Amino acid sequence: MAPSFQLRWLVQWVVSVAAWAVLCGAGASHSPPLMPSLAPPCPAHCICLSQSQVVCNSAQLRGVPSALSPTVTQLSLSRADLRVLRSDAFSHLRQLRRLVLDACNLTKIRPFAFRGLPRLRELYIQHTPLATVDAFAFAALQNITSIVLSHNRIAQIESYAFAGTNFIKLISLRNNPIKRILAHAFSGLNDVTQIELPSGIRSIEPQAFAGLEGIGTLELAYMDLPALVQDTFRGLTRVGRLALRESDLGVIRVGAFDGLQRVDILEMCNNKIDGIEELSLVQNNSVGTFKLMGNHMLESPEAVELEVENIVISGNHLPCECGRDPLANPLALTPDFAEENFCISPLKVRGRSLASAASAGAACRGDAGGSARARAAAGASAILRHAFTSPHLALTMTALAFFAGS
Ligand SMILES: *[C@@H]1O[C@H](CO)[C@@H](O)[C@H](O)[C@H]1NC(C)=O
Ligand SMILES: *[C@@H]1O[C@H](CO)[C@@H](O)[C@H](O)[C@H]1NC(C)=O
Ligand SMILES: *[C@@H]1O[C@H](CO)[C@@H](O)[C@H](O)[C@H]1NC(C)=O
Repeated sequence: MAPSFQLRWLVQWVVSVAAWAVLCGAGASHSPPLMPSLAPPCPAHCICLSQSQVVCNSAQLRGVPSALSPTVTQLSLSRADLRVLRSDAFSHLRQLRRLVLDACNLTKIRPFAFRGLPRLRELYIQHTPLATVDAFAFAALQNITSIVLSHNRIAQIESYAFAGTNFIKLISLRNNPIKRILAHAFSGLNDVTQIELPSGIRSIEPQAFAGLEGIGTLELAYMDLPALVQDTFRGLTRVGRLALRESDLGVIRVGAFDGLQRVDILEMCNNKIDGIEELSLVQNNSVGTFKLMGNHMLESPEAVELEVENIVISGNHLPCECGRDPLANPLALTPDFAEENFCISPLKVRGRSLASAASAGAACRGDAGGSARARAAAGASAILRHAFTSPHLALTMTALAFFAGS
């Protein structure tokens, strides 16, 4: 792999240098064949591969070169020393379709930095020290295929960071140390196919997704939340699929889904859930399908109200209370609820279906008395709680799966 990569790199380099010599070097001594006044010379520290393709990969380059031809469609400033992108930084390059700003020492993007680029399709900003996405940083980008912001040091997305940005296929924020999603982080962003968020999110403010209208897939995974608070999804409208997965969701508070509107599929899969104060999806939420699958719940839900067309509740692990009819569980809203969901506690019946645990009466006959049963159940949930206070969520998920499976 390595030698062929090196060879390819060498070939690219030779081609680049040759192209540079032809376009920029030779052009200086001969008169260029076509319309010389429309072809500015290649700026210092850049390689002009053609009229449309320019590569400026030199750390000696400070800032966006101003002397580039307006015909450039592909520009790479990787490894340049850009530091701050001012507003309208590229407005002299209206034909740009692909812009690569990887490893360019970028620390700040001023509002409307990318304004005036109606044809831009791909924007890459990766491996930079960029620590925040400020309000309106990406405003005025339309019909762009991808904004790739992975492998930066983005810890916070300010409110309105993507405001005024429409018809985007992908916004990727993978591999950034984002811990909090602030209110209105995605306000003013319309019709995006997918937003990729990093793992390890620790808090989502109320109305974090308010003003995000029209998203194909919003997947929130590998989070470590104390709670899903009231109004988390208020103002999020028109969603193809909203998925909360592989996370510690903490407590689902009253009103967590209040104000969420028009969702084709809402999934909560393979999460650890401490408790459900209320799980309420009413008609006004207009959720088509709700799937609650493979979750581990440490306490039985207190209140559940699902006005949803299709409901799937299966593969979940719930506390089994001795002598209590599993169909009395507020989640018992599907025909096969007792067969398709399992006991997480007490120990004796862990892993058995709710139906079989109830019909065998195993939990009751096996234990000496009420107080002993209560202690056993409390002990089991203490083990689980303890497992989840450790910082490594993945590890504890594995431990929990082991507990549940054993
Ligand atoms: C990156 O920018 C900082 C100032 O923000 C500067 O001190 C540093 O020398 C730059 N590094 C490179 C590799 O250009
Ligand atoms: C972007 O796409 C939308 C929908 O496809 C279209 O209505 C709009 O005119 C396009 N805008 C630009 C600037 O190309
Ligand atoms: C349903 O949502 C709409 C739009 O947000 C709101 O105006 C209306 O009051 C809501 N209805 C109920 C019953 O909550």
